[in-house]
Amino acid sequence: MSQAPHPAGAAANSPAAFTNALPSYLDPNNLGPWGIYLQQVDRVAPYLGSLARWVDTLKRPKRTLIVDVPIHLDDGTVAHFEGYRVQHNTSRGPGKGGVRFHQNVTLSEVMALSAWMSIKNAAVNVPYGGAKGGIRVDPRQLSIGELERVTRRYTSEIGIIIGPTKDIPAPDVNTNEQVMAWMMDTYSMNEGATATGVVTGKPVDLGGSLGRREATGRGVFTVGVEAAKHTGMDISKARVAVQGFGNVGGVAGKLFAEAGAKVVAVQDHGGTVYRESGLDVPALLAHVARVGSVAGFSGGEVIDNDAFWGVPCDILIPAALEQQITEANAGRIQAKMIIEGANGPTTPQADDILHDRGILVLPDVIANAGGVTVSYFEWVQDFSSFFWSEDEINERLVRIMKGAFAAVWQVAEENKVSLRTATFIVACKRILHARDLRGLYP
Ligand SMILES: NC(=O)c1ccc[n+]([C@@H]2O[C@H](COP(=O)([O-])OP(=O)(O)OC[C@H]3O[C@@H](n4cnc5c(N)ncnc54)[C@H](O)[C@@H]3O)[C@@H](O)[C@H]2O)c1
Repeated sequence: MSQAPHPAGAAANSPAAFTNALPSYLDPNNLGPWGIYLQQVDRVAPYLGSLARWVDTLKRPKRTLIVDVPIHLDDGTVAHFEGYRVQHNTSRGPGKGGVRFHQNVTLSEVMALSAWMSIKNAAVNVPYGGAKGGIRVDPRQLSIGELERVTRRYTSEIGIIIGPTKDIPAPDVNTNEQVMAWMMDTYSMNEGATATGVVTGKPVDLGGSLGRREATGRGVFTVGVEAAKHTGMDISKARVAVQGFGNVGGVAGKLFAEAGAKVVAVQDHGGTVYRESGLDVPALLAHVARVGSVAGFSGGEVIDNDAFWGVPCDILIPAALEQQITEANAGRIQAKMIIEGANGPTTPQADDILHDRGILVLPDVIANAGGVTVSYFEWVQDFSSFFWSEDEINERLVRIMKGAFAAVWQVAEENKVSLRTATFIVACKRILHARDLRGLYP
């Protein structure tokens, strides 16, 4: 049997001789999103004190499952799709994180998203580890029956590692309440008992939680209000620009408008609308609900999509896709504050530019954690089969988001670091403290 040489300078029996920095299943020359996550961990390591001895735990997922998902297409042929479920860390509790259906999903992306879930869950202190799943499939190419078969076969394949006390999936890009209902049913059929707590983001009539749909946007608004208090910004006079007017961006825009802010620009996949004196947000939401996009809205002027990044505003909310704020547009952004509703909307290079320009970034790992917080409430309600009122849910959500944000703000001030690094410090310390208390098995 041939043996890999020891890393340069590592003595034969030193830990470095046994510990490869990267898993063999990733291409070191093309690490993808996992590479970005590793850079973020390296940035936080100097702040971890004695817990830094466990830091390698964060640099490798605990469990990585790749599954083949074969289904009958409507024409009778068989198609195979590649599926993943990655449990990054379970030191603080079961894995938790969404399932993404997208033709470009990669293992590296799912690994990074699972790790960011570990950070997010620890940052808001809900008792979960981090996990994520995905299938390389374009659901728009499937019939409803094919979508159901893909979902059920995938759920069955990952059924060996998920469960209400093991790992609890939820919706993410291109998955919704109906997909969660099929996942819950498939898992329950295999177990022989209805297990509502195996997924969150379910329909309310099937053990879902009131307030879950609005939770992420409400969390975005809550941290924005808290940051405004620290920076002396008056929300009722603020101008807001929102990219993505779906679940997250639509709800956040509505809440800012209700607080008196002017939503001056909104961009979605159909185009960009602008109105200096503020768009009529309820009318825009109704238009989007009717036609599927902001395109064609008569209450504002159409501007070029690229011009969106330079509109005069105080708050910018990216709530659409990854890697939207880049070196190409970070220098033009006029906002004083950016609230990351989307996951990973800012590249590390853009982050540095924004930092140098004194623009405050409220990072995704805290700003969009409202969704998983209410998912946690859903799971608790499913276990007790006792459901709370929407007011109770919103009140608890706001309390958790405010507390988590205050802790992150304080750590950022004490260490003179960005809010992103501060969130990583708070979260990584919690994860590694749990690791330390539990010790290594065997
Ligand atoms: N829904 C949640 O609870 C939740 C929680 C945490 C993070 N997120 C993240 O928030 C982001 C948005 O999720 P969502 O649930 O609101 O999705 P959604 O599908 O409801 O809305 C997405 C929005 O982005 C817009 N969009 C798509 N492509 C675009 C493009 N090229 N340019 C501009 N806009 C574009 C769409 O038109 C739509 O308005 C994602 O990154 C998601 O991972 C969502």
